[in-house]
Amino acid sequence: MTLRTRPPATATSSARRFPSDFAWGVATAAYQIEGAANEDGRGQSIWDTFSHTPGSVLNGHTGDVACDHYHRWQEDIDLMRELGVTAYRFSVAWPRIFPHGTGQVNVAGLDWYERLVDCLLDAGIQPWLTLYHWDLPQELEDLGGWPVRATADAFGQYAEAVGRRLGDRVRDWITLNEPWCSAFLGYHTGEHAPGRHDVGLALRASHTLLLAHGLAVGALRSTVRSDAAIGITLNPTSVAAATQSAADVAAAGRFDGFRNRWFLDPLYGRGYPDDMLEYYGDRFPRPTDEDLLTIAAPIDLLGVNYYEPHIVRFDPHDAFLHAATVDPGGVQVTQMGWLVQPAGLRELLSRLVKDYPVGRLAITENGAAYPDHTFEGRVADPERTRYLAQHLEAAAAAVEEGVPLHGYFAWSLLDNFEWAWGFTRRFGIVHVDFETQRRTVKDSGHWYREFIGAHSGGARARPA
Ligand code: FCB
Repeated sequence: MTLRTRPPATATSSARRFPSDFAWGVATAAYQIEGAANEDGRGQSIWDTFSHTPGSVLNGHTGDVACDHYHRWQEDIDLMRELGVTAYRFSVAWPRIFPHGTGQVNVAGLDWYERLVDCLLDAGIQPWLTLYHWDLPQELEDLGGWPVRATADAFGQYAEAVGRRLGDRVRDWITLNEPWCSAFLGYHTGEHAPGRHDVGLALRASHTLLLAHGLAVGALRSTVRSDAAIGITLNPTSVAAATQSAADVAAAGRFDGFRNRWFLDPLYGRGYPDDMLEYYGDRFPRPTDEDLLTIAAPIDLLGVNYYEPHIVRFDPHDAFLHAATVDPGGVQVTQMGWLVQPAGLRELLSRLVKDYPVGRLAITENGAAYPDHTFEGRVADPERTRYLAQHLEAAAAAVEEGVPLHGYFAWSLLDNFEWAWGFTRRFGIVHVDFETQRRTVKDSGHWYREFIGAHSGGARARPA
């Protein structure tokens, strides 16, 4: 096997400048890395149930142990220090704080995250805390889950408990991660927990999730430091029609409504988009003005998770949206089959700034799965390095264009439990041997360290 040399970290965009306070980060999520599923009073989440349901996750993998981060968190912070990152986006597991979803707080859960946050701050790494990255307490699902309004109230109480405990130290707060996935993959396609198949439930879930976000913004405002940045992470995407035929253009418009405007419009005070309300019809009960007001609570930050763009055509066989995504051919894809198209990121960021009063933006996830080549203690992942380099180049171009981008978080710090794919898809810039839990910084991790060093004044740069 011939190893490609790494692209030099400085050559990509030496003339371009990211803001000096730019957050150079890595991201993870609780269920994907923590393990310790039954420790210190943690309750069960929908992902525990789902992953233990035969046929739900590839190879029957579960997050019971995952990267054992719950026990190895100090080692993992040392790794971040070694990588020179200035920020770490992680999520709090709701069932560690409220094992039953509501009611009595589990103090041991809060204690654990407090230790993590304090240690990060000591290491000079800013904690970016996500409250919900898909691990709904199972007991709340048993009562109806995200389609049911009470779940939003429970989320508000959970946000308040975390805000009270950590709000003096954590500055950057993200309420939800990708509510589109929670609603549509969880309740419509059933690919994700809780694995239900009802589009009406999914549409209701999308509304409860947005409401939960709004309630959490209110709860955080009254509990956390006054200079906090509070926001939400979505997975908006750049959408293009496969051809200029009227049917394809209309399908692309619906797809944009479904993925982007359905969430962005109400968050920025415009209510749900009329074309989609009409399209969904009575599958989506009309929300009250009061709910819309709650959802539109002012936010300081929009998190963008970007992996690939979408090219869309009309599809009469797709019962829900009458739309399908197309692989245009000739474009590289990752191991997930996702298109590698960094221009889509730049286009998306510009569009967000043009269409919405976004304020601060951050790329809260970006990365790629590829099969890695391990030999003699080295993990060679040239495709991942190239992916990161190209997307950072697109991010730099967006900054030059005036996009108020304040952070970039590589997904992910560690190879981890990739939801329905179990441990078969590796996104880490650090390799994890799941037998021994041994961590090895991949070539892409070394490259990222150099890149950060070169773009943050060089203070943390070390020779490769
Ligand atoms: C995102 C998820 C994250 C990870 C990446 C690959 O949609 O937020 O947890 O699975 O995809």
